[in-house]
Amino acid sequence: MINVSKIKKGIVIDHIEYGHGYRIFKQLKLDELDDVVVLLRNIPSNKMGKKDLIKIETDLELNFNILGLIDPNATVNIVENGELKEKITLNLPKRVIGILKCKNPRCITNFENVTDMQFELVDAKRKEYQCEYCNTRTTL
Ligand code: CTP
Ligand code: ZN
Repeated sequence: MINVSKIKKGIVIDHIEYGHGYRIFKQLKLDELDDVVVLLRNIPSNKMGKKDLIKIETDLELNFNILGLIDPNATVNIVENGELKEKITLNLPKRVIGILKCKNPRCITNFENVTDMQFELVDAKRKEYQCEYCNTRTTL
């Protein structure tokens, strides 16, 4: 397997469901960073069969809402001085602001420039969120 070195300082997002790594990469805008970032895809994993993994060599503020929405089972490892400092587990967010789009074509949020539209979790199993304007249910 490809050997990717341990990092000195930064964030390792581990246990990403395979196929979701690139989506997380784009949504967190990691392509806009000047720091070292690696995306590993389809790594063999005992627990998951296959997984994706992202290493970011900087201490940026992660948007846990986006991460939790895309991959609630991922693990976020915070590394400092070459050592693991914190291991964070994620949750499906109860409220999502400004990421989801309402799938109702007649919803006001699809006509007017509504920023920060809010969605509320209504079915965790199906990852269904409800638009605060029209109550239509949407998934990612
Ligand atoms: N890691 C890293 N640089 C470090 C420390 C850790 O890149 N200085 C990476 C490891 O390679 C691993 C992840 O961070 O991918 C989590 O590290 P660790 O908790 O030591 O690994 P595991 O025990 O396998 O994690 P888990 O129990 O969550 O599966
Ligand atoms: Zn709506």
